[in-house]
Amino acid sequence: MTELVRTRAELAKARDALTGTVGVVMTMGALHAGHETLLRAARERADHVLVTIFVNPLQFGPNEDFDRYPRTLEADLEVCRRAGADVVFAPGRAEMYPDGEPLVRVDPGRLAGDLEGLSRPGFFHGVLTVVLKLFQLTHPDLAFFGEKDYQQLTLVRRMARDFDVPVEVVGVPTVREPDGLALSSRNRYLSPGEREAALTLFTALRAGAEAADRGEHAGEVLAAAHRAFGAGAPGVELDYLALTDADLEPGPVAGPARLLVAAWVGSTRLIDNVAIRLAPRS
Ligand code: PAF
Repeated sequence: MTELVRTRAELAKARDALTGTVGVVMTMGALHAGHETLLRAARERADHVLVTIFVNPLQFGPNEDFDRYPRTLEADLEVCRRAGADVVFAPGRAEMYPDGEPLVRVDPGRLAGDLEGLSRPGFFHGVLTVVLKLFQLTHPDLAFFGEKDYQQLTLVRRMARDFDVPVEVVGVPTVREPDGLALSSRNRYLSPGEREAALTLFTALRAGAEAADRGEHAGEVLAAAHRAFGAGAPGVELDYLALTDADLEPGPVAGPARLLVAAWVGSTRLIDNVAIRLAPRS
């Protein structure tokens, strides 16, 4: 049975009743098959699964889609029930921020100044602040985050380490449509034509990954991704294509690396990334 709790007091009571390990999956709702994979991963690793559903205003910029962000609690609860979640914490804004928006926020540091952080200033301050609050409220042993938001996953992992939060942060691979499009709550904003065009992001990543598989080096990998992006659908506007090491540090030379992309498809901003391995320079 899945228990829905709306207040901190109810959450504390429900959390106390969970014995054994607890895995948390933090979400903003609008759950899709990608979230279900997170829930299943949590189910496999932890004795109990706790899901949080909260559209966090702190992580939306002034021109972003906070008001139009989908709120689908009934359908989300159905997903949680199906996946065997024990507790769903779905607080309102006043429950989460009883004193108004927090005065003190987590400073995400240097790694947040690039990639998503460049286009979305303040985004990771908002994300890490709410994630830290949710860690404090839910006391999980394990926390599951999707690799699709790779910078978020990396920063949450780093925050847990830097702040000694006693939680294991687990990255879960991105779930894709059969044609390769990464699942995202924002895909629902795409018209059928935009849905086709959105594939340009994955096509670019795949071209880069194939170049890496052929043993090509960083510059050529990035160039192959750019060429494929350029040959993709018109009207898809590139924000960035970047190659980093697995910890998001720039300029990898060899070994595990990450190829990341962000682009606008109409008025919807999408992100995606893949793991690659760069051949050593001979
Ligand atoms: O990835 C998300 O859905 C959000 O950024 C998170 C982690 C739930 C924080 O609001």
